Amino acid sequence: MLDTISAHIRVVPDFPKPGIQFRDLTPLLADGPAFQATTAALAERAGEFDMIAGVEARGFLFGAALAQLTGRGLVIVRKPGKLPAATIGHDYDLEYGTDRLELHADAFAPGTRVLLVDDVLATGGTAEAAVTLLRKAGGMVERAMFVMELDGLPGAARLRAMGVEPVSLLHYP
Ligand code: PRP
Repeated sequence: MLDTISAHIRVVPDFPKPGIQFRDLTPLLADGPAFQATTAALAERAGEFDMIAGVEARGFLFGAALAQLTGRGLVIVRKPGKLPAATIGHDYDLEYGTDRLELHADAFAPGTRVLLVDDVLATGGTAEAAVTLLRKAGGMVERAMFVMELDGLPGAARLRAMGVEPVSLLHYP
């Protein structure tokens, strides 16, 4: 199953900058059986949870698919200014500058077990910020799932340091 998934990930050289080998998931999304296999593989490893949180933008795709398969609801963690009702936010540092994620303040009840889903775990900055935000809203976050993880970067260690178990289907150096 994992072989099918990895066979549909395409390497695009020099995107978004020279020297970066971008792993593009659009061929995986475009292939029905491969996309289904991805969702099934995530579901097998998801553990116990009440709701899924998908991170903008590609986390929405896999989060929504997993929510459908498991019958759970989906909350969306968005970039600033996108959500219409009252939000809570978390600002976090990037290599150059800062960024912010937002969540509807009433997205879930305090104590809800929230499973974080995104496409890629790289530096872990996005996932760390999303977990911080979900916890600020009263969510219990114990696991975060990714289609792929870049092992040369500290994302997994950063999540473990917060008491979150990273689960990634595929690992790349
Ligand atoms: C990518 C990816 C993750 C994040 C991973 O999103 O989809 O959300 O980066 O990187 P990190 O572990 O170093 O934080 P991107 O910022 O490109 O946003 P997009 O999905 O909206 O294009």
